[in-house]
Amino acid sequence: MAVGVLCAVQGSAEAIIVQAVEQTGGRLSVTRRCADLTELLAAAEAGLGRLAVVSGDLDLLDRETIELLHRAGVRVLGIGDAARPWLGERLETLGADLVAVAPHDEASAGDVVRAALAMLASAPDEEPPAGQPDAVRPPARGLVVAVWGPTGAPGRTTVAVNVAAELAAAGRRTLLVDADTYGGCVAQVVGMLDEAPGLAAAARAAGHGALDLNTLARLTPTIATDLRVLSGISRADRWPELPSSSLDAVWPVARALAQWTVVDCGFCLEQDEVLSYDTRAPRRNAATLSALDAADVVLVVGSGDPVGIQRLVRGLGELTDLGLGGTRVVVVNRVRSSVAGAHPAEAIADALARYAGVTDACIVPDDRPALDTALLEARTLREAAPGSPARRALGTLAARVDALLAPAPVAEPVRA
Ligand SMILES: Nc1ncnc2c1ncn2[C@@H]1O[C@H](COP(=O)(O)OP(=O)(O)O)[C@@H](O)[C@H]1O
Ligand SMILES: [Mg+2]
Repeated sequence: MAVGVLCAVQGSAEAIIVQAVEQTGGRLSVTRRCADLTELLAAAEAGLGRLAVVSGDLDLLDRETIELLHRAGVRVLGIGDAARPWLGERLETLGADLVAVAPHDEASAGDVVRAALAMLASAPDEEPPAGQPDAVRPPARGLVVAVWGPTGAPGRTTVAVNVAAELAAAGRRTLLVDADTYGGCVAQVVGMLDEAPGLAAAARAAGHGALDLNTLARLTPTIATDLRVLSGISRADRWPELPSSSLDAVWPVARALAQWTVVDCGFCLEQDEVLSYDTRAPRRNAATLSALDAADVVLVVGSGDPVGIQRLVRGLGELTDLGLGGTRVVVVNRVRSSVAGAHPAEAIADALARYAGVTDACIVPDDRPALDTALLEARTLREAAPGSPARRALGTLAARVDALLAPAPVAEPVRA
């Protein structure tokens, strides 16, 4: 099969290179002609190619973006310029695997492409051998966990904020994102005083192809060690500022910035029938759908009362119908005996096993005192109520999420 080539080359060399690639007798094939770096990163992230051909003067190209391409399993052929020799040097410094001067005719383009083929042959894909479990694979890139749940305020924000805080406290670089277009309140919950431009600004930048690591870092204040926050839209009626195409381009940059990106999602999954005919029309649930689509893990949060469990079972079905939420962890929150009987955890486990086939739900007890203290102080549970039952359950959940997919700790304990 042809090796996919992602082409992000400026000027007249682009067409010449594309043509030369297509003349390799099926060994290489251009899978995406990218207008800018964001498009290139998205295509690499989507696994569309194994070779990126990139102009040295491509806007925002830096060391981290080349690193990101490498982590996506893409080799980089940098295209310099005979008139600007420093461009080639820059490409080498940035970490390009091969640097060539921009070809000006068919013959020189053929030389460049042959050099690329030789480079690919000498640098075999670094895919892990089949059968190797995820947990022992070094981190290719950061992971995304979407926190979703049906209507009725089951505690999505509570779970997202506190799981993010626990992951950060465990030493993971973590980014908490508020993507709830119905009533995002993460900034308020964690006590961010200044109104930050947040996700809308990140989406806008991504839409212009201008979202790089530095920009995303600027948009995400650090509220605790290793914990950044991308706040939500400050007014619910501003949801059209979050088109899914732009959001889709936010996640790859988030993965480069953080080891874990935790996304607090809206509750609604409906894809408006009328609007879906017009793919350019903004959809209110675009943010949620984009996050769920990008997520490596989805935490599905339900409320531990009879109505909440019924909604949870239905919600799990909806996720399946939409083909979303591959790896799931079900979280039943606010579990209490007053609505679920003397042994609420057992009763809920029974119901979930029977109606949804879920046997490993995470149970978070109802813990009004701890949650109220945290809300009042605008702090996370681990700060405001470290010994509380809710915090302990959410800490366990974060450890479970981390163990599920994240890399083993860098420093292995030394065995005598
Ligand atoms: N385990 C819990 N015990 C007690 N109250 C909780 C618990 N989890 C969440 N709450 C409270 O329930 C309300 C809704 O939670 P929130 O996380 O904002 O829900 P959602 O984001 O799903 O709308 C908040 O007032 C929150 O403090
Ligand atoms: Mg919420």
